[in-house]
Amino acid sequence: MATNMLLKTFSVAALAFVAVAASAQTSDTPVLTINVDKPITKVSPTLYGLMTEEINYSYDGGLYAELVRNRTFRPGNGGADRWYSVHKGNSLLSLQPDKTTGPSEALPNSLKVVVDQADAQSQAGIENGGYWGIPLRPNTVYQGSFYAKAADASIGAVTVRLVNDDSGEVVAQAIVPAVTSNWASYDFPLKTGAIRPSSLNHLEVTVAHPGTIWFNLVSLFPPTYNNRVNGNRIDLMEKMAAMKPAFLRFPGGNYLEGDHIPERYQWKKTIGPLVDRPTHPSPWRYQSSDGMGLLEFLEWCEDLHMQPLLAVYAGYSMAQEHVDAGPNLEPYVQDALEEIEYVTGSTSTKWGAERAKDGHPAPFKLSYVEVGNEDWFDRSGSYSARYAQFYHAIKTVYPDLQIIATAQVKGIKPDVVDDHFYKRADQFFADVHHYDNIDRNGPKIFVGEWATREGSPTPNFGAALGDAAWMTGMERNSDLIVMASYAPLFVNVNPGGMQWESDLIGYDAMSSYGSPSYYAQVMFSNHLGDEVLGSTFEGGGPRLFYSITRDSKTGRLFLKIVNASSAPQPIEIKLTGTTSLKNIGTLTTLSAKTLEATNSIQAPTKIVPVTVRLPKVSTDFNHTLPAYSIQIMDLDTK
Ligand code: AHR
Repeated sequence: MATNMLLKTFSVAALAFVAVAASAQTSDTPVLTINVDKPITKVSPTLYGLMTEEINYSYDGGLYAELVRNRTFRPGNGGADRWYSVHKGNSLLSLQPDKTTGPSEALPNSLKVVVDQADAQSQAGIENGGYWGIPLRPNTVYQGSFYAKAADASIGAVTVRLVNDDSGEVVAQAIVPAVTSNWASYDFPLKTGAIRPSSLNHLEVTVAHPGTIWFNLVSLFPPTYNNRVNGNRIDLMEKMAAMKPAFLRFPGGNYLEGDHIPERYQWKKTIGPLVDRPTHPSPWRYQSSDGMGLLEFLEWCEDLHMQPLLAVYAGYSMAQEHVDAGPNLEPYVQDALEEIEYVTGSTSTKWGAERAKDGHPAPFKLSYVEVGNEDWFDRSGSYSARYAQFYHAIKTVYPDLQIIATAQVKGIKPDVVDDHFYKRADQFFADVHHYDNIDRNGPKIFVGEWATREGSPTPNFGAALGDAAWMTGMERNSDLIVMASYAPLFVNVNPGGMQWESDLIGYDAMSSYGSPSYYAQVMFSNHLGDEVLGSTFEGGGPRLFYSITRDSKTGRLFLKIVNASSAPQPIEIKLTGTTSLKNIGTLTTLSAKTLEATNSIQAPTKIVPVTVRLPKVSTDFNHTLPAYSIQIMDLDTK
């Protein structure tokens, strides 16, 4: 969705915007003086980005557009988890998870379907209900596929149907005429007609004759963003695009580390054909399909014009398991170097060639590599030595890469340190000056995870105020803070979908919505500029926060003011160093009546930014901030 679609435009009269001569206010009105001709520092061009990992069904059941749940037949729930038998009429069958045969080394298992009795009217097979439903839209082609082998040809054709749960109506159907006795893949389109959009559907795969047939990797994809094969959900990609993110931090988060060392994110097991990806357990208590693999992360960056920020596994997993620096760590360091080569190497390198084989000959530009995640949790004290070993090895081959540390490091100065903040709004209000006095000669800062944690599953308006206040502090300090990313980004709002409360964007199978915090970020990153202006603020209360930036080329000034108080707040705004402002400016407002007000799947746009044109304002004018509001004024100062 384009940003200007998010920002509804109303007439000035409709919003009763007030910008009056300064004399109309009382003498105790706070005065904000902006020194237009005195930029004090640069704004980092990469300030706002995204952080992502497999949590809250962010990829499987979320961004990754696959519609079949447990497509590789992991056992569970007394059989193959999420798979059930279809037995029409008087058909008879049994389902048996089979560990002895599968389509590949990575997927050595399958679901064995033994059909004792079936005919054309009494078909037998398996069904899957997707991730809380299978969303179907009218006149749309869905790309289906499966791997299968049959005991012999007598089992005949396999019919694949998409069936409406309520009506039983078959809304799309495809026939695979025959399945051979060796594992092979079968592809088929499924096209819907003039149906009503709904997620109350399931997938059926049936046969009309007795026999035995094995399945694995049963898959169904809707149209994806940029029509990528194995691609992403369109609505979620559009929501991220509206945030204009500069980078993507991946693959975690805890997801990078895993609970145990063998459960870490092993990038080599996430590349190439899906049939060669074994899947792995995530620390967020479900199996990851790894359909969102290393190349898919990179293509996601490409699609949204973000730079990748690659976190490499650094020898620590969350159950206090670590690998000591030295020879034992060396294989992990080599693995990271190969991963960087897969991302950045030309096709004449081993791993660059592998990337080309996977479909992407062009290398990706990479500037930042992060060594581990939240290594302050490692109580062994091994991080400094582990970081140093990665740092030296990476810098030797890639001297231009910036190497991010995830904890304090002794004996070596990291290029960048990753700080994380999960707080209540009041705590952020009290901490907005956190970085104001930090030594500028130390490492740069990456605020790689931050969020006001109020509201569930997604943040409420009170959280958006905390976020906006915190962002004013980050912008003011963006000479030091090179990047920042909110976390977590996504949550599937269905029961059981969430492992972590207060997530930026919520969704179910059919639709998605941005929280008030999401809209605060859309506003901030769309009105950023490249320099911070000097200012003074006299008389402002404890719940007023602001940031002033400017685009040095166009002269457009962005004044962001957060009023986290329940009372409207008059202020006087003075601009020095400029004699006039152009007529046209805008005022964008995000506000709510209460801190608890929020958006949801049922009411996705209750709280959205509203933009009005400013009347001509002078270089000294009064303005009243609404109660509980985040406002951005765009003023043309050239
Ligand atoms: O964002 C959720 C989790 O919080 C991340 O996985 C982890 O890095 C942090 O503790």
